[in-house]
This record gives sequence, C-alpha cells and structure tokens, in this order.
Amino acid sequence: MFLDRPDSDEKAVLVHLIINSEEERDDPKEFEELALSAGACPVAKISGTRRQPAANYFIGSGKLEELVNCVRTTKAKLVLFNHSLSPSQERNLEKHLNCRVLDRTGLILDIFAQRARSHEGKLQVELAQLKHLSTRLKRGWTHLDRQKGGIGLKGAGETQLELDQRMIRQRIKAIHKGLDKVRSQRQQGRRSRQRTGVPTVSLVGYTNAGKSTLFNTLTNAQNYAADQLFATLDSTLRRLELPNLGPAIVADTVGFISHLPHGLVDAFRATLEETALADLLLHVIDGGNEAQDELQKEVESVLTEIDADQVPRLEVVNKIDRVSGYEPRLLRNDAGLPVRVWVSAKTGAGLDLLLTAMTELLAGGLVSQTVILRATQAKLRSHLYESKFVTAEQTDETGASILDLRLPKAELDRILAQEEVQLGESEYARCGQSDSLAMAQALSAGSASGS
Ligand code: GTP
Repeated sequence: MFLDRPDSDEKAVLVHLIINSEEERDDPKEFEELALSAGACPVAKISGTRRQPAANYFIGSGKLEELVNCVRTTKAKLVLFNHSLSPSQERNLEKHLNCRVLDRTGLILDIFAQRARSHEGKLQVELAQLKHLSTRLKRGWTHLDRQKGGIGLKGAGETQLELDQRMIRQRIKAIHKGLDKVRSQRQQGRRSRQRTGVPTVSLVGYTNAGKSTLFNTLTNAQNYAADQLFATLDSTLRRLELPNLGPAIVADTVGFISHLPHGLVDAFRATLEETALADLLLHVIDGGNEAQDELQKEVESVLTEIDADQVPRLEVVNKIDRVSGYEPRLLRNDAGLPVRVWVSAKTGAGLDLLLTAMTELLAGGLVSQTVILRATQAKLRSHLYESKFVTAEQTDETGASILDLRLPKAELDRILAQEEVQLGESEYARCGQSDSLAMAQALSAGSASGS
C-alpha cells in the first residue's frame, strides 16, 4: 500500500549525537546516505555529545534551540534523528519544532517501504510499519499537515490517519494471514529444491556491498541494482550453472545494516531463513569501503542472530576495480579450501575464481558413483544428463549404459530409493574432504582449460 512513490527531495535537518562518549556506532556518513536513500535532501547537520539522552526531547535545551534555529533558517520540513526516539520524545519534538520528526527506525522503515518489491516483502514492511506506528498513534496530529505526503509519511503512515486502533489490529491480522500463506508457498518451494538436491547459495552482506550486481552478473538476471541503500529487500532466487557441478540456486537477500531495528530483523526473519538454510554463503564485502572491518562484524552478528553462523562461508571482496592495488585472487586456508576471493561484479574480473571457489566448496557435499542402467531406464538416463550429473558413459555388450555420476548425496539416495539401479564398481560413499577437494580442483582446472 502506498509503495513505490517518487522521491520527494524534502529538505531535512540531520541530528546525530554521540551518547556517553561511546565510539561512533552509527557512522554519520551512512546516516546521510540513509536520508538520501529515503529521498530526503539533507540541508544541515546538528551533532554533539551527551552523557545520556534527555527524557523529554532526547537532546538538551541548548541543542534544541540550535535545532529550532536551524529548522527556521533552512526552512526544513523534516528532522531526522540517527537514534531511536520514544513516541513521547518524537511527539514533543514535533510540537516544539512544528515539523515532522523521524527517528532511525522510522527512516529505515520508510526506505524499506519504498524498496520492497515482492508481495511478501511489502507485507513484511507494512507489518513492521504498522507495529511501529501503532505505538505513536496517540499523538496530536493536528499541528502537522500529514496529508501532504513526503518522507516519513509513506506507506502505512498515511493510512493511519483514517484508521483507528481497531482497524489497524484488523489489518495486522490480515497481513499475518497473508504472510502465513506466502511462507507456506516458500517452504514448499524450498522442500522441492531440497528433494532434487540442488544446492543453494545465499548472497549476504552489508547494504550497498554489491550483492545485487554480483547476483546479476552471476545469473545474468536483471535484478534491481541501484546506488541506494537497501535496494534489495526480497530474497530473490535464480538458477546458476556451475562449471562441471551442475545447477545451483542463488539467493539475493536484504542488505544488513548496523543496529537494524530488532522488529525489522523479525519482520524479515522468513526471508533471512533462506540464508540460514543455504549450503553456502557468499559474504559480499565492499572492498572500497574503509570501514569494512566494522561492517563485516555487523554482518557476522546478524548471521549469528538468524542462526546462519554455522553455514559454510566464502568472503567475496567486491569492487576491486575501485581500489588500486587490488587484483583478482583466491585465498585458501591451510586445508586448501577457498576462504576469500577478490572480484569486481561490475567488470567481471575474478568471477572465474569465484565460480571455482563455489564449485570446490559445494563439491564437498557431492559423491561419485557408477551406475548401470538398462535400456528400459532411458527416462532416468535423460534425467541424469539434464541434471548434468553424468561425467562419463560407456555401453556394455548387453547394451546397458554404464554411467559415472557425480551428484549430491541426497539426490543419489532419492534415485536409489525410487528406482532399481544396479551399482557399478566405484565406491558408493561420501567423498572425504580432501578427495572432494582434489576432485573439484581437477574439475575446475578442466573447466578452465575448456574441457
Ligand atoms: P542492498 O540492496 O542495499 O543490500 O545493496 P547491494 O549490496 O545489493 O548493492 P548493489 O548491487 O545494489 O550495488 C550498490 C552500488 O555499488 C551500485 O551503484 C553498483 O553499481 C555498485 N557496484 C556494485 N558492484 C560494483 C563493482 O564491482 N564495482 C563498482 N565500481 N561498483 C559496483
């Protein structure tokens, strides 16, 4: 509802305080980018330090005066706080400043509302917005012209004028119902993918790291990529052919951000579940961002929160075209497994290394098996070929096909459970890590030489 509106270029004053002289947790530059992403036009910044937030206005009386003057001289219509404000602080500030005030949660929600594209994403954002706004409904709205639209009024904000608490509760109930339906469809899709044994690779990373661009380059899809924070809000699934490994599903996911409001992590939990259940995570890192160590830590903490910290991971340092001295390269750990790869999603540099690394890491779950199929099992034979599981074939004197397969163990188990298949001489056992690694490296080398 009320999503995908044009940017308003509304003049905004940004307020960022350092509380209790703790380190600058929320980078002011990122705050400015958030404001720009929401479509606001920052005209002034107010900063300062405070031991603790003031109860009534969050900022102290001196800063409040400075803010009043700033709003007056810049004719700003909006004040954005890089902090969480209580409903009463927000209400007091709006009354005092006579303009709209939005806190960090409200701002992020606003951006999410503008960016969500799938039905599920829109429902999730609307739910989070309604929950956030329902705590703020008691305020006196009359002193503000809330019908005009603009930042902070988008999405559910506009409709709440017409809705009373009861109607909001009804809407929340309806959204929950809608989400349950979408989730069961999503689960069905996931189950059928698991049945076929096709591995899933999830792209994760801090917002703006280049996940969608990499996703597009990898899958040749035209997913939305824009230089705006949170350009991606819905986990998008596409199929990718890995050299000599066969198909994999790649999922592009919502970008992470520091201090993502807890309600939002909850709202997007279903989407992020995709991440926790992936066979491999590609942690995309913006190589051009000087604060990347900090951002990496933030991503790690979100991964822990959504129980995805145990999923095998490959770090992908992106945007190397922007940084002098960075070349495409692949870093391995002591066991020889890929841990980090340097690429440019934009120019395509290093993507061959990325595919090699993905193949090697995913091959850890593959098995090799020789099977002998009778002429009557032509359907199974063509399925094995279509799935790119066949590495070699011979025909014996009886006309039976002797196929060397390399495939996910789950898929082999499924075939053996469903069909009477005679096993050939090679062992049916899960490859040890070193065997599978050697195999994958041989494969990758084979693919690089064009064989
Ligand atoms: P969210 O959806 O916010 O999580 O962002 P994202 O991580 O999906 O980033 P996205 O792919 O939208 O890219 C963000 C910006 O970085 C866009 O302007 C891209 O064109 C740019 N970008 C992505 N990859 C590269 C790269 O390899 N080199 C350069 N120079 N720019 C890149």
